[in-house]
Amino acid sequence: MQILQAKFQLQIFLTMITSPKLLPVHKRLDLNFVKGQGVYLFDDKNNKYLDFSSGIAVNALGHCHPKMVEAITNQSNKLWHVSNIFITNELNFYAEKLVTSSKIFDHVFFCNSGAEAIECAIKMIRRFFYVKNQKKYRIITFKGAFHGRTIATISASAKKKYLEGFEPALQGFDNVEFGDIEAVKKAITPETAGILIEPIQGEEGIRVSDKKFIQQLRKICDEHELLLAFDEVQCGMGRTGHLFAYDFYETKPDIISTAKGIGGGFPLGACLATKNASQGMTYGVHGTTYGGNPLAMAVANAVLDVILGDNFLGDVKINGEFFKKELINLQNKFSNIISEVRGVGFMLGIKINESIEHAVIVKKFIDNKLLTVPASDNVIRILPPLISTKKDILEALDKIQQSLHEI
Ligand SMILES: Cc1ncc(COP(=O)(O)O)c(C=O)c1O
Repeated sequence: MQILQAKFQLQIFLTMITSPKLLPVHKRLDLNFVKGQGVYLFDDKNNKYLDFSSGIAVNALGHCHPKMVEAITNQSNKLWHVSNIFITNELNFYAEKLVTSSKIFDHVFFCNSGAEAIECAIKMIRRFFYVKNQKKYRIITFKGAFHGRTIATISASAKKKYLEGFEPALQGFDNVEFGDIEAVKKAITPETAGILIEPIQGEEGIRVSDKKFIQQLRKICDEHELLLAFDEVQCGMGRTGHLFAYDFYETKPDIISTAKGIGGGFPLGACLATKNASQGMTYGVHGTTYGGNPLAMAVANAVLDVILGDNFLGDVKINGEFFKKELINLQNKFSNIISEVRGVGFMLGIKINESIEHAVIVKKFIDNKLLTVPASDNVIRILPPLISTKKDILEALDKIQQSLHEI
């Protein structure tokens, strides 16, 4: 057995970068990480990288944060999983804490990913009108948004590249131009039930909707009795310098879906809603096996404690502003490479001039041991862990400057 295992390991080591046993739906870089600590990742050659990709906005507290390690270690010695037909203290406690911290919601449904959290929001919007005996089920969504990879969520975002080969799409979405209030008004029919928006489009290249647009959506929803749902999977949980992006927008949605940073690396999604919006979600209409399991609840509780700690969100705001200002300075210095700096808090993007492929710059950053995430529109996403300090930001700026010089 041991010989077999050793042979197997050797074979992996000698012949593969990515195992061909994996369904090849992801394109992986030739970087094999073995350890994470704070804002750093270490590869199998013991190279140290400043991780400003944060697992695409997941590692809110960086890697192996002591509070998270403590929480998962303690919980793993106590209780991992029971069915949702039972109660656990961890589930009750964290649900109370998250909903109370939201200030505007009354209920939460826990699941395991962003797409599931969006799925719950879509079902909630449909059920709201079903229990009122109204035939309203259509949801207005926006071009460029990314909501996940399930059939419902690729139908909602309506991006051709994700729908190709999977059609027919789920019916009931009306996809309009992002930021175009007239297009929203025009799309409303007697069958419209709600609006689903990713207020800061991450994957599309850090496209930040303006406050006025979001506030107008709220007004339209009130006028037409529609539910307003935010996709805060990427922009929620502190990334804007506010616990939730709706605080940044000073707007109260009826429903939000969040994930990524909420578990800081432990898979968790959540759909939060007001009592009114969630009235259709009664016993038996929705469910999950793993959602709200004690391990996830314990880790998420530790994450939330840190995020709600003294000055934490204030520091994200201040450091985010500082970072953006310094990136704009670099843009002025390297205007032949950077054409725009976008974003809020620790959700930043630099748009690279069309003459240069952004992947070339991302690769140069990697050579200089800085990790970032390519997005659409030739934008590089910079998503530091929320714990990043001014010193970490200065280190990143050095690496960026160095890379741009070398380009
Ligand atoms: C805004 C947004 N919504 C939904 C999702 C889907 O989340 P998951 O991959 O956890 O299903 C993502 C993932 O990147 C996202 O960025």
